[in-house]
Amino acid sequence: MSRPSVATRWLTGVLLCSAGLLSATAAQAQDQGAQRLHMRALAATCAQCHGTEGRAVAGEALIGLAGMPQDYLQTQLMAFRSGQRQATVMHQITKGYSPEQLAALAKYFAAQPAQK
Ligand code: HEC
Repeated sequence: MSRPSVATRWLTGVLLCSAGLLSATAAQAQDQGAQRLHMRALAATCAQCHGTEGRAVAGEALIGLAGMPQDYLQTQLMAFRSGQRQATVMHQITKGYSPEQLAALAKYFAAQPAQK
């Protein structure tokens, strides 16, 4: 049997490399998808009182969060958590989240369009 030509070996190398790259990219995409899902699930815990993805519905007693400045949201959440801002429910709710989770929620809601 003849040895594979240089061209065949080169081609095999290129193919193996790109297969590796493709699976790395797929894994990364899957990871981002999982993170997005995790974030949406976390944000859904606020939907009952703040609307889906923080969008208040006209005529409903909801306090919209979508599109508010990230800094403002984060400051309020931390102020509820520390008791610095008086609240009826938010001081209790925010205690169930870590500062990192509250920061992520502030970022998430700030990035949502206020209307869809
Ligand atoms: C049970 C209803 C309820 C849930 C669930 C809830 N909130 Fe609230 N939220 C309120 C109420 C009521 C206020 C007004 C302050 C108060 O009295 O607690 C408020 C106020 C806020 C404010 C201040 C808005 C402003 O204009 O200053 C932010 C920010 C906020 N909530 C974020 C969240 C986030 C993030 C979650 C999910 C982790 C969440 N809330 C879950 C009821 C809720």
